[in-house]
Amino acid sequence: NIIEVKKYGEPFRSQFHFTPEANWMNDPNGMVYYEGEYHLFYQYHPEGNTWGPMHWGHAISTDLIHWDHQPIAIFPDEHGTIFSGSAVADINNTSGLGTKENPPLVAIYTYHDAEAEKSGEVDFQTQGIAFSIDKGRTWEKYAENPVLKNPGIKDFRDPKVDWYEDKDGKGKWIMSLAVKDKISFYSSPDLLDWSYESDFQPSWGAYGGVWECPDLFKLKNESGEEKWVLLVSINPGGPNGGSATQYFVGDFDGKSFHAEEQEVKWIDYGADNYAGVTWSNVPKEDGRRLFIGWMSNWDYANIVPTEVWRSAMTLPRSLELFQSNQKHYLASRPIQETQGLRVQKKESNEDTIDLVSDLLEIELNIVSEDFDLEFSNEFGEKVTLKKQGNSLYFDRSESGLTDFNESFKKMHTAPDLGLELKNLQVFVDKSSIEFFFNEGELVLTEIIFPENPYTQLKTKGFGEVKKIHVLKSIW
Ligand code: FRU
Repeated sequence: NIIEVKKYGEPFRSQFHFTPEANWMNDPNGMVYYEGEYHLFYQYHPEGNTWGPMHWGHAISTDLIHWDHQPIAIFPDEHGTIFSGSAVADINNTSGLGTKENPPLVAIYTYHDAEAEKSGEVDFQTQGIAFSIDKGRTWEKYAENPVLKNPGIKDFRDPKVDWYEDKDGKGKWIMSLAVKDKISFYSSPDLLDWSYESDFQPSWGAYGGVWECPDLFKLKNESGEEKWVLLVSINPGGPNGGSATQYFVGDFDGKSFHAEEQEVKWIDYGADNYAGVTWSNVPKEDGRRLFIGWMSNWDYANIVPTEVWRSAMTLPRSLELFQSNQKHYLASRPIQETQGLRVQKKESNEDTIDLVSDLLEIELNIVSEDFDLEFSNEFGEKVTLKKQGNSLYFDRSESGLTDFNESFKKMHTAPDLGLELKNLQVFVDKSSIEFFFNEGELVLTEIIFPENPYTQLKTKGFGEVKKIHVLKSIW
């Protein structure tokens, strides 16, 4: 029952980023690796190309690049529509929803009861679960939903669950939950009964909007020391307006999270990487913390100029810690699987390069304090990225269609985070451009809607040899 994948030829249709076959998509949900397959679920409105009653759409990949669309996994029911959440492989069958021999995949999501909301109640968001015993192909709701009731708070959503083990190897499930403008942690032995543990709400965090879509995981830093990272998406209040994802680096002791460095940090300085979280159950031998985000922004997500489908995901990234000025930062490294998209390579020694495709990966070495690059075509459409002093400037005001929203045209800025910028990798798809400095230590993810392909790249401040890869479509 896999829908036949067709070539997506509509204007602006992403060719190497995930998009739903038709209709509206927002947050990535339920990402779990199981038996050789990466599952990607997503906030989906199957009846229209704008946000509406939410379902979980579904796709499966074996390399995080090529995706097979699956039937809708989770539908609304009497408790509400299905908001964001996560999925885990319950390997030891702690929930009893599968068997020891065939453990279940368990999805933990938010029920949004729109009727209750309309009638003025405040406890309209609760957490429910569904499970699959056929490798994620079909999903059954737990009969006693919801598993976590609402204590009387309007915003109570986006459960991200993972298995936690203490030093003695004693384990439990930990849920990170967005509760208005804080993160609450809950724990459970079996995914069914949840107990409150603690709240995280530092006085110095970014609070320009509501907190959403948390994710808690540990990573080793460059000296091999373990740190805990907490991702928190916020909307609005991002560094370049609208939606964005902040993160905290610190410690988690099974009960509470403490941030170690009092600085607001952003996972991406572009405007279009929101609600991103990481895959659970990725094998230890792989060792990566794999991430994907929704490549849009609530400021204009509903009115971007696409019709058949709306929104794409970012390229998948591997999250790693690095240090700069004695502080920890998160790198979003392009995953090596992306290299499988390369079909043709050209090297150029010129500063101005004619482009032969609109699906590109470009590798540049930075040799000057200040630099700039501009993609353009003969119709006057262009985007520019420039470094001056300690800041980066991205301008999409003349990138193509921009009139659908005033704030879309705004210049975006990013600090250089005290980094010595050494190289830049740029991915250009039909309606997005992603900039990765120093293999992802500083990232800008941006959507654009050029009506014609950019045919020329002008560069200044880069090393002589510029690598241009033509990429292929995944569909
Ligand atoms: C984030 C978000 C989540 C919510 C979902 C609804 O973009 O607002 O908090 O669960 O989208 O679609």
